[in-house]
Amino acid sequence: MTRIPGIVTESERLAPELQPWPRYFERRGMEISLALELAAQPRVARALDVGCGNGFSMAALSTMADEVVGFDLPGVSPLTHSVGIKEARYYLARMGIGRTMLMAASAEQIPLTDCSVDLVFAMYVLEHVPDKAKALGEMRRVLRPGGRIILLLPSFLDRLLAPLAHWHYLASRLAVRLRPRKTPQPDDEFTQRATGIPSTRRASLAQELLAKNPSFPLPDPHGAYSSYWEELTGSRTRVWASMFREAGLDATHCFCPYLPPHGLLAIIHPRLPMWLFIKTQEVHRRLGGMEPFRRLGAAYGFVLEPRIS
Ligand SMILES: C[S@@+](CC[C@H](N)C(=O)[O-])C[C@H]1O[C@@H](n2cnc3c(N)ncnc32)[C@H](O)[C@@H]1O
Repeated sequence: MTRIPGIVTESERLAPELQPWPRYFERRGMEISLALELAAQPRVARALDVGCGNGFSMAALSTMADEVVGFDLPGVSPLTHSVGIKEARYYLARMGIGRTMLMAASAEQIPLTDCSVDLVFAMYVLEHVPDKAKALGEMRRVLRPGGRIILLLPSFLDRLLAPLAHWHYLASRLAVRLRPRKTPQPDDEFTQRATGIPSTRRASLAQELLAKNPSFPLPDPHGAYSSYWEELTGSRTRVWASMFREAGLDATHCFCPYLPPHGLLAIIHPRLPMWLFIKTQEVHRRLGGMEPFRRLGAAYGFVLEPRIS
């Protein structure tokens, strides 16, 4: 039976062009392994991957499920981080993963019958869904008795540190734009002497900055939130906990699948978060399930079970 590291190697060999960022397969592979381990998830007959993206998580789940059903939104949209269902179809065919079923759908309306899956897995998806309560209700509906839901979500700390990573990104973009051009423009001579930057370029830079970053100086919200503050306050564990309760779900485990705040560490060096993540796998394993460290992670993992009334 193929294990997750084997799926990572095969994905890198057969479909490297599907990685949205460098070493995506490697990092997701480690996150999924760690999450399944920290959740003490046993093998199941049928798993459902909600918001399966490029299909990698379906392949990873196929190592612990006899059959994997996955779905995602049909089209490509940067707003929902959707890569389109075609990508997962291509990936699964390329990898030759059998016993999978792929569909185009929204988490708010899952096209499966009641009580038809043993595990619902959703990795960095629920924060993108506008009606989270409806999506949780749907996840609960399709779960067989004794089944569970594993959710991975960005943590409060990750969102709290997001402005630092955003300002670093803006500063690096600005530095590129302000670098002296090789061929001087006609309007350059006077203003360049005074400021080093052509005035027309300064005006257009400010306009461009505000046009591309409407929430400046804060980052634009990530996921289906209307503002950064709504996203930040919505990322607190107690907000998620009350949403789970209202959907009739009990959180039986809460774990932290990885500890270092990636966005912040990437400011020091782009490769640092991944390097640290790899070097400290054992630390994640030991601390990721312990209460005092849960708040320090860049992500939350929740294991949910339907409340029996
Ligand atoms: C950040 S990506 C995560 C993708 C993948 N699970 C992973 O971990 O790499 C968010 C995913 O959620 C999906 N998504 C957003 N809104 C959704 C919805 N209403 N129903 C199902 N999937 C949705 C997007 O299409 C995208 O694939």
